[in-house]
Amino acid sequence: MELPFAESYKIKVVETIKRTTREERIQKIKEAHYNLFNLRSEDVFVDLLTDSGTGAMSDKQWSAMMLGDESYAGASSYYKLKEAIQEITGFEYFLPTHQGRAAENVLFSTMIKAGDIVPGNSHFDTTKGHIEFRKAHAVDCTINEAFHTELDHPFKGNIDLNKLEDVLKKYPRERIPLIMVTITCNSSGGQPVSIENMQAVKKLAEKYGIPVFFDSARFAENAYFIKLREEAYKNWSIRDIVRKMFSYADGMTMSSKKDAIVNMGGFIGFRERELFEKATLYNIMFEGFINYGGMSGRDMNALAQGLYEGTEFDYLETRIKQVAYLGQQLRDYGIPTQYPFGGHAVFIDAKRFLPNLPKEQFIAQTLGVEIYIEGGVRGVEIGTLLADRDPDTRENRYPELELLRLAIPRRVYTNNHMDYVAATVKNVFDRRNEITKGLKIIKEAPILRHFTVTLERME
Ligand code: F0G
Repeated sequence: MELPFAESYKIKVVETIKRTTREERIQKIKEAHYNLFNLRSEDVFVDLLTDSGTGAMSDKQWSAMMLGDESYAGASSYYKLKEAIQEITGFEYFLPTHQGRAAENVLFSTMIKAGDIVPGNSHFDTTKGHIEFRKAHAVDCTINEAFHTELDHPFKGNIDLNKLEDVLKKYPRERIPLIMVTITCNSSGGQPVSIENMQAVKKLAEKYGIPVFFDSARFAENAYFIKLREEAYKNWSIRDIVRKMFSYADGMTMSSKKDAIVNMGGFIGFRERELFEKATLYNIMFEGFINYGGMSGRDMNALAQGLYEGTEFDYLETRIKQVAYLGQQLRDYGIPTQYPFGGHAVFIDAKRFLPNLPKEQFIAQTLGVEIYIEGGVRGVEIGTLLADRDPDTRENRYPELELLRLAIPRRVYTNNHMDYVAATVKNVFDRRNEITKGLKIIKEAPILRHFTVTLERME
């Protein structure tokens, strides 16, 4: 018989997780003011809040940590990381940062001023936050197909070239400091961008003299999808695809907590020395000296090793097949999801799951609360709460998609956990008609409100 697929690793260390009762969970989520970020992780059975910093490091990463060089300047760990970044991404210069948003902070302090326009494909919330904090604007140029969850398209992260060119034509060059391409595009459902699209974006950007940066948190997952879905690259290695992808960028920001499988870390990659030197000032001010920038030597060592492991085909296949394993079960139950499934998460289409709830009642958040109560599974809202208010009008922004994301940590859960999650969601789906009331906001922060918002059930 044909041998079945099996994980490309085995488990060496385990962590106990605890079940709770439904009654306990009703109480816990109430105490958390219906904000999933406020729950204690010990009250969560399967935690799919994020795939960021939640992965399991390998034996090789843990042993690399013991070899960390904690010198302030000139540490061997810094050079090890520099070598790994150069080899994998092709970027000559880099600055270490403590995580992805810190990389955004340093880069944008260097490049963005008030009134600027930053086109891209559904910018991630911290990216958008850092743009708007500087009184600049993020313009979403994602292809329309991304907003139709049932429409099958191999690269729903792609940029619509017409939308992009409209922006580039509309504003003067001085007001567009960069184009930000997010790979994979988290906000549209962990969806990849094709090399063909990257190439076309770069060509257009060159025509208008604007640099292109990649928000690269999940660049390796993006490369895996290219290998599977873009004919020209089916025989290429992941590493070669990665190098090809980055050849269409002038620089990158990285949250290493995702595809580099570390619990903390980030960096900025640059092709040009001049911009790197400008950014160095902000790195030293906000993050630390350029040889460590927010990371300890051991963290840089683990990150260097993680970059190699995260770009191995067998690892990526195991990971992305697990996401699809969960996604397919949900689909088989008739549950509406973003399709094809993303690289890091399954995104449930909450508007179609709960069609009777008005958009003002935070549909995806309501679904997230119900799923927690049902089985102690924690997802995260990618909807109206996250979309925040318009910085000018202060009105709520209602995004086209209300999604509940179930993000799968790397190398952490087994497929039995995925079966458990699928059954939990199915049980909520079976009683969806009884869910007739959503949530309302009691208190919110002026920016990035979803982290700290407090909510109450509608009467
Ligand atoms: N860019 C993307 C595409 C991201 O998904 C994230 C984080 C960041 C930048 C910021 O990186 O967290 O290291 O500061 N995403 C996490 C998530 C938080 O749950 O999707 P960070």
